[in-house]
Amino acid sequence: MAHIRVRNSGHNDSRLKMQEKHGSVSVNGLKKVPTATALITLFNLSGAQISDPAFSAGNVAVITGAALGIGRASALRFANLGMRIAIADLAGDELQAVTSEVERIVGQRNVLARDCDVSNVAALEAFRNDVHDQFGPASILFNNAVTRVGRGMWTDIDDWKRAVDVNLWGVIQGVRAFVPAMIEKGAPSRVINAGSKQGITNPPGHPVYNLCKAAVRNFTESLAYDLRSTADCLTTAHLLIPGWTTTGKQDHKPGAWMPIQVVDEMLLRVASGDFYIVCPDDEVSRDMDAKRIIWAAQDITENRPPLSRWHADWSDMFKKFELE
Ligand SMILES: NC(=O)c1ccc[n+]([C@@H]2O[C@H](COP(=O)([O-])OP(=O)(O)OC[C@H]3O[C@@H](n4cnc5c(N)ncnc54)[C@H](O)[C@@H]3O)[C@@H](O)[C@H]2O)c1
Repeated sequence: MAHIRVRNSGHNDSRLKMQEKHGSVSVNGLKKVPTATALITLFNLSGAQISDPAFSAGNVAVITGAALGIGRASALRFANLGMRIAIADLAGDELQAVTSEVERIVGQRNVLARDCDVSNVAALEAFRNDVHDQFGPASILFNNAVTRVGRGMWTDIDDWKRAVDVNLWGVIQGVRAFVPAMIEKGAPSRVINAGSKQGITNPPGHPVYNLCKAAVRNFTESLAYDLRSTADCLTTAHLLIPGWTTTGKQDHKPGAWMPIQVVDEMLLRVASGDFYIVCPDDEVSRDMDAKRIIWAAQDITENRPPLSRWHADWSDMFKKFELE
């Protein structure tokens, strides 16, 4: 029985530890390949135990955009739980590297990695068919891939279209490709779509990204409603909303969380049955996030100009509100 210490960034309700209960067998005297009976158990600070059968060893986790960042950290974490891992990302050294890393954890035959552009429905469906042929339906679908092309309102229209194709259509197509079989299987399973605080508070600077993330939130809310309204459906939907996280090829800066912190928060909150998984970071607390979200919603109810948080006539009032 192994204990994993979850990196604690100092937030009061950060979860301290995670416990994995594994049945496992040795392969070649080196690797541990978990058996299908393993079940992850998580503890919150008050010591209450929660577990989620969807994250059991032997189950299938499908992750898009897993070559880097939060996707990569989740592939490694899920592999350490003994899950079989299917990765879709664009071809490149990073995809090869993460594939080798995951294989070292869970064994080559438990990993499937494809050069798959999530904006390409034919490629995504071919990936889905390979996953189903090799492993069967997913227990975890993590629609995480992202492009950050297209800066500014007047950026090239092709960048707008590319961003929407990857960041929104990639999520919708991922759901349509994998979720029917997840429901059909009749076992507990989770769809996690990666949103962003930018899809809620809409800060200036990157409108196409904000638009995509707002739409992912909206789509995932509707998906959650649909799943919970479907008779005997054991599939649930969740919206991951990371804070500032050191990902891609960035250098780590103080204030940001590391991807594994986001993944551990995600695991615990999904296992707790939460839909909105708003992650803090080391600069923005949960309280600050709540104030920012409330302020953004109140732009409508208080008849303020949009993005009033960044409006000369309102920004001081927002700062006061944030400190109240
Ligand atoms: N890093 C942050 O601070 C942060 C904050 C809020 C939300 N998020 C969200 O979290 C998720 C993960 O972000 P990250 O920062 O870890 O990303 P990242 O940039 O580190 O990695 C993104 C991955 O997606 C892959 N990808 C890009 N286009 C693709 C395509 N068309 N098809 C398949 N794969 C593709 C990339 O190759 C890369 O491996 C994203 O949805 C992002 O919007 C991140």
